[in-house]
Amino acid sequence: MRVTRCLRNVKQMLEYYSGFNPSPLSIKQFIDFGKTATEQQSFMFLRQEVPVRLANIMREIQLLPESLLLQPSCRMVCDWYMQSFDEILVFEKMDPPNSTVLDDFCDTLVKIRNRHSSVVQTMAEGVIEMKQSVKVDTSTENNIQYFLDRFYMSRISIRMLINQHTLLFEKQASKKNQEQVGCIDPYCEVVTVIEDAAANARFLCDRYYLASPEIKISEANGGGKSAPIQLVYVPSHLYHILFELLKNAMRAVVEHHPDTGDFPPIELLVANGHEDLTIKVSDQGGGVPRSVSDLLFQYMYSTAPKPSVAGDAPPLAGYGYGLPLSRLYARYFQGDLIVNSYEGYGTDAIIYLKALAKDANEVLPVFNKSCERHYQSTQRAPDWSSHVIGANSGGAGVRNLRTWSAGAH
Ligand SMILES: Nc1ncnc2c1ncn2[C@@H]1O[C@H](COP(=O)(O)OP(=O)(O)OP(=O)(O)O)[C@@H](O)[C@H]1O
Ligand SMILES: [Mg+2]
Repeated sequence: MRVTRCLRNVKQMLEYYSGFNPSPLSIKQFIDFGKTATEQQSFMFLRQEVPVRLANIMREIQLLPESLLLQPSCRMVCDWYMQSFDEILVFEKMDPPNSTVLDDFCDTLVKIRNRHSSVVQTMAEGVIEMKQSVKVDTSTENNIQYFLDRFYMSRISIRMLINQHTLLFEKQASKKNQEQVGCIDPYCEVVTVIEDAAANARFLCDRYYLASPEIKISEANGGGKSAPIQLVYVPSHLYHILFELLKNAMRAVVEHHPDTGDFPPIELLVANGHEDLTIKVSDQGGGVPRSVSDLLFQYMYSTAPKPSVAGDAPPLAGYGYGLPLSRLYARYFQGDLIVNSYEGYGTDAIIYLKALAKDANEVLPVFNKSCERHYQSTQRAPDWSSHVIGANSGGAGVRNLRTWSAGAH
């Protein structure tokens, strides 16, 4: 049944499907759909939407510099995407889908999810391979940062679609948590997720430093609502963000107080409003200088020693992916993550989430002309003076004050 198409055909299909914009769903729509839709309806939506999302990001991959595309790890990722795109297109014209087709579809989605499980690390390796083989200029560096944000966001969104479908309709899907709709918990207790993430972050911190700071949590439930604060959200996404922020905070606190053994606690505040649910993670880990604050969200920026590959437990830090990926998870449903640091004292990391499920719409990358232009733009000359004297005085028509004033007076 599954005939692998010739490459030319796949390319045409890629062009066809990338011509559609992805359709973002809100958490409320995910829930309503999950409660009312039949397996057939979900199949019909996904067999169009998954190839659209794949094609949009695959067209963007083609715009990457050759020096990255030719790296073995990057080629491997491209092959996985091609194969998954090809596999899902098999279901294009299967109307109406009988139960065998539906089972097959579920199996294919699971296969795709498994195939793509190590995409983040493999793409990161591709970037490292490129940096080892060629010198990367600032404009390429910016393009790669722009691409990785969009690429990983696309991946988060495709996994969300696959997880919803398989959790709801897979034959052996466990129905342990009756209240959960796929991977969404309509009554997700924020403090419970924090405690879970804190316990695991402390475990890693204790292993690494033989000590760890305490955690203090407080809740401020606005609008007359009562604690504990609940949110309609994907608990695994929230857990991911909190785990990364708490690992960072713990590392900073322990390293900033090396001799005391008496650490100031990490304080968390959960505030619930009409529009936003905010979680602030405050540490007294010494903070970072303002000059590096722009680097914190860059992929691979890390001040931790490189983790050993053969480690038997995940490291506390070292890949430089914690903050940028956490920000993507926060932004995926229209939230955000910002970091404010006070050098010499500590850091506040603030997670903003939409308080209402109807406002929490997916944020998805779209392949279009303006995205294409982004990859074509070359390095721009600075249009603000730099602290380096003469930094912008090289171009024609540019005179700095010293030469101008010498002639004018
Ligand atoms: N709370 C904090 N206090 C001080 N520095 C921080 C804090 N959070 C992050 N940083 C700095 O930002 C860098 C990047 O953080 P990020 O979480 O992205 O990567 P990492 O912790 O080094 O590695 P990993 O990918 O394992 O999380 C850290 O190496 C650290 O130098
Ligand atoms: Mg980290």
